[in-house]
Amino acid sequence: MTTVSRRGDYTFQYNQRQNRHGWLRLTPAYSVKLVEEIGQQIELDVGDRSVILDPFSGTATTGLVATQIGLTAHLLDINPFLVWFGNTKCTDYTPDELAELQCLIPVIVQTYKRFVGHSLWLPSIHQIERWWSESTLQILAAIHHVLVQHVGQPGTDHTGDLLWIAFCRVMMDTSAAAFNHVSMSFQQETTNHTTQTIDLFFSEIATHILHSARYQMPGYARVFPADSRLAPPDMGVRYTHVITSPPYPNRMSYIRELRPYMYWTGFLNQAVEAGSLDWDSIGGTWGVATSRLKDWRPELDDLPASLYELCAEIEESNQKNALLMSRYVHKYFHDMHQHFRSLRVALAPGARLKYVVGNSSFYGVQAPTEQLLARSLAQLGYTQIAHHVVRKRNSKKELFEYCLSATWNG
Ligand SMILES: C[S@@+](CC[C@H](N)C(=O)[O-])C[C@H]1O[C@@H](n2cnc3c(N)ncnc32)[C@H](O)[C@@H]1O
Repeated sequence: MTTVSRRGDYTFQYNQRQNRHGWLRLTPAYSVKLVEEIGQQIELDVGDRSVILDPFSGTATTGLVATQIGLTAHLLDINPFLVWFGNTKCTDYTPDELAELQCLIPVIVQTYKRFVGHSLWLPSIHQIERWWSESTLQILAAIHHVLVQHVGQPGTDHTGDLLWIAFCRVMMDTSAAAFNHVSMSFQQETTNHTTQTIDLFFSEIATHILHSARYQMPGYARVFPADSRLAPPDMGVRYTHVITSPPYPNRMSYIRELRPYMYWTGFLNQAVEAGSLDWDSIGGTWGVATSRLKDWRPELDDLPASLYELCAEIEESNQKNALLMSRYVHKYFHDMHQHFRSLRVALAPGARLKYVVGNSSFYGVQAPTEQLLARSLAQLGYTQIAHHVVRKRNSKKELFEYCLSATWNG
């Protein structure tokens, strides 16, 4: 058997050094390098008339790569924060807009201090004291207040949104959240950051973001809010390529990690909204999403036979949550099947699909995602289906990332 390495360059870590790609450090992202290589494999080129779809945009990696080489890409995501963030990343900004914003940075830094200690709006994040110390929170609340005054809430002023991205960076980097693993954990203690440290950090990061926003992009990429289990919104085009990375069946909740960003930017206001959003997200497992799973019944009964066998095997493992876990796996593959089924109306004949997916394991039972999704695709009439390993995901278990390809011939 050939050895497959973990390839950090095929993960979000690589993106942190890549200008706009590195603005926020979000683990759902796949690597720019991987998308570029997929683009080369399918011979996407500048001036090409291809139109790319990414139905699971996340941080808009696919869109940014496409627009940087002059292509058109439409992206979809169910999470409104990611739609906003993706569009902020994929927008062209004029030199005048950026110069004006640069002048606003010292104004923000000077003005916010007047409001430190006032009774200001704070996001209703559960156990907020685990994230930030009291004094750091007061500084963040004051910057937030002044940003709203100058550029409006996120999504109001497309250039001003760049300062909101800088705020997101400062907010996260001053928190006690630790990202040593794929998912987030907390450090033991919060830190009392001084206004001097935060001023310097906000000014530096905002300047860096404005600097990397100055490159004009020859293509076009836009992210739209949509549930990709349904047919994509009609944009008057048929897609020649789908390049994407859907959620994996690994019970990782994107909402969990994105919560602080979403609360501070106003895309989430109450905990119950997080659970509802995760329920509509494929593979979601946060809060109410888990309890709803107990009552979930499939809408489709034409899923691959091997899925039913896998679910039975998980159920028979006799572990405490075996039934719930089996239903989770069933729903994940059900929703992906629904996605492949609905996608067909939006594809041009000959459209080529590339899905970066990960396998999983439940109570020692392997869930071969790449094989099950390949069967779904075959059942739905896609052809030329193949998959290969991209990288190893985890040092302990046999978890891999695969690139699954298919063609749609109409
Ligand atoms: C693995 S991430 C995509 C990462 C992306 N390739 C990147 O580089 O950032 C999967 C994305 O699918 C989105 N998603 C989950 N369920 C969805 C659904 N039903 N419709 C649309 N998007 C969904 C999640 O919000 C998440 O952003």
